[in-house]
Amino acid sequence: MLIAIRPFSLLFIAIGLIWGVLSTDNGLQTVVEWDNGSLMINGERLIIMSGEFHYARLPVPELWLDVFQKFKANGMNAVSIYFFWSYHSASKGVYDFTTPAKDIQRLFDTAKQAGLYVIARPGPYCNAETNGGGFALWTSDGSGGKYRTSDETYRQAWSEWISKVGAIIAKNQITNGGPVILAQVENELQQTRYQANDTLVVYMEQLKTAFKQAGIVVPLTHNEKGFRSKSWSTDYNNVGGAINVYGLDSYPGGMSCTNLDTGFNLPRTYYQWFQDVSPSQPEYLPEFEGGWFQPWGGYFFDQCLAEQSPEFADVFYKGLIGQRATLLNLYMAYGGTNWGHSAAPVVYTSYDYAAPLRETREVRDKFKQYKLLALFTRVSKGLHNTVMESNGTANAVDNTAIWTWVLKNRDTDARFYLTENNNTRTRAVTDFAITVQTSAGAIKIPDMQLRGRQSRWVITDYAVGNETLLYSSAEVLTYGIFDRPVLAFYLKEGQTGQFAFKSANNITFSTHGMHSDFTSASTNSSGHVSFKYMQSKGATVVRFSNGVVAYLLDIPTAYTFFAVPTTDTPSVTADQHIFVLGPYLVRSAGVSGDTITIVGDNALATTIEVYAGTGVDRVIWNGQQLAATKTSYGSLVAQISGAEGRKIDLPALSTFKAADSSPEILAAYDDSNWVLANKNTTLSQVKPLTLPVLFSSDYKYYTGAKIYRGYFSAKSARSLNITVQGGAAAGWNAWLNGQPIGYNPGNATQWSSTALLSFNNATLKDEGNVVSVVTDYTGHDQTSTGPTGAENPRGILGAQLLSVNNTRLSFDYWKIQGNAGREKNIDPVRGPMNEGGLYGERLGWHLPGFDAGTWEDSSPTEDGVHGVGIRWFTTTFDLNIDEDLDVPIGVELGAASGTVARVLLFMNGYQYGKYLPHIGPQTRFPVPPGILNTRGKNTLSIAIWAQTTVGARLSKLRLIEYARYQSGFDFAGIDNKALQPEWKDRSEYA
Ligand SMILES: *[C@@H]1O[C@H](CO)[C@@H](O)[C@H](O)[C@H]1NC(C)=O
Ligand SMILES: *[C@@H]1O[C@H](CO)[C@@H](O)[C@H](O)[C@H]1NC(C)=O
Repeated sequence: MLIAIRPFSLLFIAIGLIWGVLSTDNGLQTVVEWDNGSLMINGERLIIMSGEFHYARLPVPELWLDVFQKFKANGMNAVSIYFFWSYHSASKGVYDFTTPAKDIQRLFDTAKQAGLYVIARPGPYCNAETNGGGFALWTSDGSGGKYRTSDETYRQAWSEWISKVGAIIAKNQITNGGPVILAQVENELQQTRYQANDTLVVYMEQLKTAFKQAGIVVPLTHNEKGFRSKSWSTDYNNVGGAINVYGLDSYPGGMSCTNLDTGFNLPRTYYQWFQDVSPSQPEYLPEFEGGWFQPWGGYFFDQCLAEQSPEFADVFYKGLIGQRATLLNLYMAYGGTNWGHSAAPVVYTSYDYAAPLRETREVRDKFKQYKLLALFTRVSKGLHNTVMESNGTANAVDNTAIWTWVLKNRDTDARFYLTENNNTRTRAVTDFAITVQTSAGAIKIPDMQLRGRQSRWVITDYAVGNETLLYSSAEVLTYGIFDRPVLAFYLKEGQTGQFAFKSANNITFSTHGMHSDFTSASTNSSGHVSFKYMQSKGATVVRFSNGVVAYLLDIPTAYTFFAVPTTDTPSVTADQHIFVLGPYLVRSAGVSGDTITIVGDNALATTIEVYAGTGVDRVIWNGQQLAATKTSYGSLVAQISGAEGRKIDLPALSTFKAADSSPEILAAYDDSNWVLANKNTTLSQVKPLTLPVLFSSDYKYYTGAKIYRGYFSAKSARSLNITVQGGAAAGWNAWLNGQPIGYNPGNATQWSSTALLSFNNATLKDEGNVVSVVTDYTGHDQTSTGPTGAENPRGILGAQLLSVNNTRLSFDYWKIQGNAGREKNIDPVRGPMNEGGLYGERLGWHLPGFDAGTWEDSSPTEDGVHGVGIRWFTTTFDLNIDEDLDVPIGVELGAASGTVARVLLFMNGYQYGKYLPHIGPQTRFPVPPGILNTRGKNTLSIAIWAQTTVGARLSKLRLIEYARYQSGFDFAGIDNKALQPEWKDRSEYA
């Protein structure tokens, strides 16, 4: 569609030119507009500070609010969401948007409730390190056509998804009172040719039409893959396919997980890139490094300290805003869990991502550091529409080791100087002076310092209600307009800040709280009183005679500062929040009469200080009225308790029952109900190595382990040449007439393996010899994995029987088995991807309510599995966590080194962990409440697949507590029952 200037805005062009404002809309609505400066929503400029969240990776809808409240509390005003087609569609034409964890109407409602805008990214291709990149797995047999082209077969497949999900997104657009402000078409699709008839251009046009037909009218966006190409911008070689607001993704950290000295070079090319590719649009980073994923055999996220460092947030996120970005989405802000086969082969169970919000839903320091920037952008109106005035080393500063970006507001004198180390990796302490331009002339501010990986804002002509900060080298965290203006500044302890007000010359002050050397001096030529201090530990409060109150916070204290909105709209103005200092988290606050009611979380007993304006005398924290005292400068101070003294009993995991879960390896096993694998043709672009086709997707088995049984009568057979493909780290085992004949342990960097299995040690029968092969699975590929991405087959690619002189012999027939019910999605609540084809899975042994009473007592740690085989262990345990606590809990597994095994962990029916002791790295598996019953009975199953004759057992199996918080969140309100359907007889799937 064409970009149109809003017709009636023509009337305002004259005014617009004077103001430098000429907003654009997409001709379909005028609620969301944009120009080169920023997005405008209902005519208001704002900086979008967004976080990526995948509800499919947290299948407890009540917890979406927990995550969103944490986003909001840490300064975000938007959430960017991928919608995985795979998660909603078990088979062609069938879509589930109603079971609890797939209820995306509830997702939108929850975002709205938390005061977040939504950037909707429905693909159809997402990537996201998710199974098949998000493509419905029923397309993986080749019936999806040529992915990500204008191919008609492919178009027909994705059209049903976009029309269904698009309609729900459309209903939730801001134009209909919902939270959706932007919709992304496709993802990281690189434009390679600027020709209208190019298949990618045609594909983008098809998608845009489909989005529009679904009713999507908000501006469309795209996500350029790094700085690799220049795609789909209306401003750049537009031959069709262009979207409204161009975006660029970027993961520039370049850090190793454990080596703190690699990478950390902040690119300085963002501004110029956007000026080149999308000069009429705001600078949008649809994905910027919130963390990074880790592969099988890689590091575990707890080790990734470089990625988790708050320094990264301080230098990189500020560095983007310094380059004039006004839409910034962190990927991931909360990664979650690749439970139940939601991983692509490139990742393991945890999708923690070293994100600001940990997989356990704990707020990392990186998020707290981000908050200092995000809250600043929220109230700093001058920053919402700037021009790049200057930049460079020694620019406005007296030291060539310092680089500055100088942004000036288009309409006012307000300037924003971002000072950063020229070498962003340095750990040197650098002192310098900066000379800023103000409405009162140039002012030199001495005593600036960057201590290693630190960046600092210096602002000028910064409006704070009716007062103006002429300049400040103390960083502004935020300000609020109460009965008086209240400012919050932050600095590292021992660093010097200096600021001045514009209004009057003879301002006096008094200080409160921690020791402070706060002083004033008449400033040189400007005649303004300047205030100067060295940041002490903790907080100091200064009351000025012009009415302003200022909090001076060191970094750890600033991390506990919350500017809690009193409105549920995503944009929050300076008179729409109250301040709370002290706790770990504040979720919400409301003032009614003389009472402020606060809901939050806290680990350790602490003092809280609340600034809510005059007239508020009573503080209620999580339902308890606190004994609060009023300070002389108008805040309330009280004590809140933590969770440190609370009693939490995590039971030992014992009294397991066990049964064999690999009866299919025996020759006599009855597979008469199994599917005959007899196809001689396939839609796959990958050719089978032998016939019949044994690709599992061709028989509509997609996720998890598959089991094959090949029958032959040729007594002269001496070996089997077999090729199996299950994705990175997947392995397999083979048996002949019940005897192990070979295996592959899997390899973190190998997707498939070939082996020649000798029959020398086996006795063959005249007929009815059976080769049983159990193949593991780590997901379908993303399109970056050739040759055909999600259509790359899984299972057996070829199986050739050979005689002693290598003559090719034939199998009589093959049977295949996989997840119970194939595409039928027999457990719609847990969804189509939760299960694989292990015997125990097919019979539902993982489900609560399954009675293992007749099984033998046997322990996964003491007994384990003897020899090659798969054994199922199950137990129940009770938890009784107090309702007002949030205690993230996980299961920790271990095995002696040398153990070659594949272990699946099921909690109340959900596959919440895949543990490969010989490949690693993950041994700790968090399980969220809702999947775990924190007050009640739990069913835990462990399937151990021992790959070698040595057998396998666990050396460690225990529940672990990650943290504990006293919380006002309604964890008790989680509807566990709805999420955990009980076992039903499944013998038909044996
Ligand atoms: C696409 O357009 C170009 C230029 O107009 C033309 O040379 C080319 O043959 C066209 N290709 C196809 C496949 O139609
Ligand atoms: C620095 O600012 C100038 C003036 O706006 C601009 O032309 C230039 O591209 C900027 N440099 C970078 C690295 O962004």
